[in-house]
Amino acid sequence: PRKIILDCDPGHDDAVALLLAQAHPAIELLAVTAVAGNQSLPKVTHNALGIATLAGITAPIAAGADGPLQRSAEFAADIHGDSGLDGVVLPEASVALDARNAVDLIVELVMTHEPGEITLVPTGPLTNIALAVRREPRLVERVREVVLMGGAAHLGNLTPVAEFNIAFDPEAAAEVFEAGWRVTMAGLDVTHQALATPEVAERITAVGGPKAEFMTDLIAEYGRRYSDVQGFDSPPVHDPVAVAIVIDEELGGGHVELRRAPIAVETKGEHTTGMTVVDLRPWVQRDVPTAVALGLDADWFWGLVTDAVR
Ligand code: BDR
Ligand code: CA
Repeated sequence: PRKIILDCDPGHDDAVALLLAQAHPAIELLAVTAVAGNQSLPKVTHNALGIATLAGITAPIAAGADGPLQRSAEFAADIHGDSGLDGVVLPEASVALDARNAVDLIVELVMTHEPGEITLVPTGPLTNIALAVRREPRLVERVREVVLMGGAAHLGNLTPVAEFNIAFDPEAAAEVFEAGWRVTMAGLDVTHQALATPEVAERITAVGGPKAEFMTDLIAEYGRRYSDVQGFDSPPVHDPVAVAIVIDEELGGGHVELRRAPIAVETKGEHTTGMTVVDLRPWVQRDVPTAVALGLDADWFWGLVTDAVR
């Protein structure tokens, strides 16, 4: 299995990413690291511990950055609520928070594993990852790749062109995209294909048991909010798409369409800060370490999520 560190800000869709990463046999979850994003660091860390209890995650869970590198934090309470995970009942956490800082834990794990062994899967703002590379620049050669949820090659969500995870901390995102390691971006172009339709929700509810109940409440609440705020009929469940890309790679591919392309993060725009500028011009040099996901086999994806709930 592929060894990953899931760096997240749970968050409804982060919770689904955690369930999938824990359950799928192609993934070995080495650690969960929390970062401020959808809500404050204490809230998302609390949520991570509760989800870990529900999902049976035994990997260490550590808290990291409590806000962007340079900017002030603007949480996503409109989508995820005051708790960061409104509308679901979390079990009381039976797992304890790791004493190490998330940034230290990322550095320690990557440096004590073989080169090319660990894949980083960030599904929140990229603050922890940028701080880890600042602390230990050799991470860049040592990590197998970074497969992240964030950005958009076309329309944004927080602004016309910027996606939330990148716009929350654009300076951190720029450092991560520029570092020189392999970065695969699961942005809105692909995550808007991962829609939790009523049929999907029914399939998951039919599984039964505590995880299915949790997922049923989660999809209902998240769907209401996405409908109110962004006008979606069915909500896009972004974060598990990054985990699914790692699973697809590990199993030989075929369910996700990836395209290599230069990607730059705008940090100084008047109207475009937080934009991921993905160069999809066909005549531009493709020999770059960055790639963007453009297509997803949604049936296959929801099969993975349903199996994870089961
Ligand atoms: C991203 O922002 C957060 O609200 C979600 O958890 C996801 O990671 C989507 O733009
Ligand atoms: Ca997230």
